[in-house]
Amino acid sequence: MTVPVPAGFRRAGPHDLALLEALEVTCFEQPWHGRELAVWLEPERGAAWLVESGGRAVGFALFQLLPGAAELLRVAVTPDARRRGLARAALAEALRSLAGDGRPTCYLEVRSGNRPALALYEALGFRTLGLRRAYYENGEDALVLGRGAPEAGSGGG
Ligand SMILES: CC(C)(COP(=O)(O)OP(=O)(O)OC[C@H]1O[C@@H](n2cnc3c(N)ncnc32)[C@H](O)[C@@H]1OP(=O)(O)O)[C@@H](O)C(=O)NCCC(=O)NCCS
Repeated sequence: MTVPVPAGFRRAGPHDLALLEALEVTCFEQPWHGRELAVWLEPERGAAWLVESGGRAVGFALFQLLPGAAELLRVAVTPDARRRGLARAALAEALRSLAGDGRPTCYLEVRSGNRPALALYEALGFRTLGLRRAYYENGEDALVLGRGAPEAGSGGG
């Protein structure tokens, strides 16, 4: 099945938990469930955006809210809707909104072997800030990336 474009983006709330759980199962080998997700749908703790196309949810982005910054916890698009610019557009929309709310900086951790995600983040202007060796349960390294962070800044010479 193909997914029609363009897609729409909307803020998700606690009532979208089941939708996010279904997307997690479709998109991740180790999906998050229940409280693991629900805590980040609480408005004071996190923020989430849903990607909708053809009347159904095809992706999401989930952030932890920090003072003056946000951490991207999860971003995913269903396999049948990938490589159509949906993740890039959803993240651009979310990052714009977060910056408008006083959170111009965004951090994230990513598996060093997740090439699609790394390419996506680079396309959005994220820069590598650090490496956490053997961070994941399978021994894979984590890269720490940032956007709008002083360490990742491109200005000032
Ligand atoms: C990573 C992911 C969210 C990308 O979603 P997407 O909607 O397909 O990404 P986009 O179409 O917006 O791609 C934007 C850019 O990212 C890069 N990119 C995305 N997928 C890529 C792939 N499979 N290989 C190489 N580059 C890729 C490209 O630079 C792409 O731009 P281009 O298509 O003009 O070349 C999707 O592959 C996914 O859901 N993966 C599983 C979940 C996951 O690993 N999430 C990240 C960790 S939380």
